[in-house]
Amino acid sequence: MAPTKQQILDSLAKIAGPDGAPLTASGKLSDVMVSDGKVFFSIAVDAAVVQAWEPVRARAEAAARAVPGVESALVALTAERKAGARPSGAPDARAGAPAGAAARAAPTPIGVPGVEAIIAVASGKGGVGKSTTAVNLALGLRDLGLKVGILDADIYGPSLPKLLAIRERPQTLGGTRLKPITRYGLTVMSIGFLIDEETPMIWRGPMVISALTQMLREVEWGELDVMVVDMPPGTGDAQLTMAQQVPLKGAVIVSTPQDLALIDARRGIAMFRRVNVPVLGIIENMSYFLCPQCGARSDIFSHGGARHEAERLGVPFLGEVPLHMDIREKSDAGLPVVATVPDGPLAAVYRDVAAKVLEQLKGPGRPPPKFVIEE
Ligand SMILES: Nc1ncnc2c1ncn2[C@@H]1O[C@H](COP(=O)(O)OP(=O)(O)OP(=O)(O)O)[C@@H](O)[C@H]1O
Ligand SMILES: [Mg+2]
Repeated sequence: MAPTKQQILDSLAKIAGPDGAPLTASGKLSDVMVSDGKVFFSIAVDAAVVQAWEPVRARAEAAARAVPGVESALVALTAERKAGARPSGAPDARAGAPAGAAARAAPTPIGVPGVEAIIAVASGKGGVGKSTTAVNLALGLRDLGLKVGILDADIYGPSLPKLLAIRERPQTLGGTRLKPITRYGLTVMSIGFLIDEETPMIWRGPMVISALTQMLREVEWGELDVMVVDMPPGTGDAQLTMAQQVPLKGAVIVSTPQDLALIDARRGIAMFRRVNVPVLGIIENMSYFLCPQCGARSDIFSHGGARHEAERLGVPFLGEVPLHMDIREKSDAGLPVVATVPDGPLAAVYRDVAAKVLEQLKGPGRPPPKFVIEE
């Protein structure tokens, strides 16, 4: 039988925090999410007492896992800053969040000093062109005059080293901090630099939090207007943890026009909504075929699915990127179109998308969802 949230809460009530009080009465527990036998929740504590709480986290994870029917449980310990204790110069990446949000049980990840806004590029499904879009979107934002960084958080298949032809490793500064790579005016960091290619896939999920923390906090990002995060595909535990751990100002969902991919896009949207990250909109990739010879356009997939879906779900539609040989060939060669053919039609498409993303980032707030998406 599928485990219920109440069963998980009952098992957590038997776990005591460092002060002896039950975890469920501590006020530090996030909402407990149970889906398909997978359990996920977080415990938000003050940064100063993280160590004392680590054994509690481990016990809570074991307790959740012991509930009949639970296949996997992931419990994240998040260090919450005290209200007003934000270091100077560290922007609140959730600026615009409703007043009192910090007081809620759901933890607000700490912003990255110097970085104004962090946005995720995500998809429910692999191979829809997320990384390609992330790179060209970052370059499009650069062309709008912004200082842009790009973080490759795809723990299962980092692709920025290839898409940006990066062969060197980042240098360490003073033995502890990493200096990001600069390419085409972008500040770049990839999880590929931190995780050994030999690391078995099964270990990668649990490594997410430490690798992410390292990439956000131990890298000299400098002053950035926007950091674009290329997320791993899917909506599993690792992705959910990431969505919750990174102080995201918004998420952009990439989808292809086919129905199947759109179902996954819906899952992606649902995931970000669950962790209270605004969905900035959907990009339809491989939307139509643009003939490299004559420039004629053909709608080989009966394109427009994502636009329709965006309308239905009440999220903005950010544009259509054609299926074009140049995008693939140039991406594979580490020569992204926006950087290498800036006057071409494809660069213009990505710049339009970037402008729409920026509009959403600056916008006065998005319309509320039209309906709740069922998982
Ligand atoms: N608009 C496009 N036109 C032509 N080829 C494209 C387009 N977008 C992406 N591609 C190609 O599709 C393949 C998959 O793209 P990409 O690696 O960006 O997808 P992804 O969603 O990041 O994949 P993964 O889920 O594995 O991370 C690549 O070979 C890429 O060059
Ligand atoms: Mg990718």
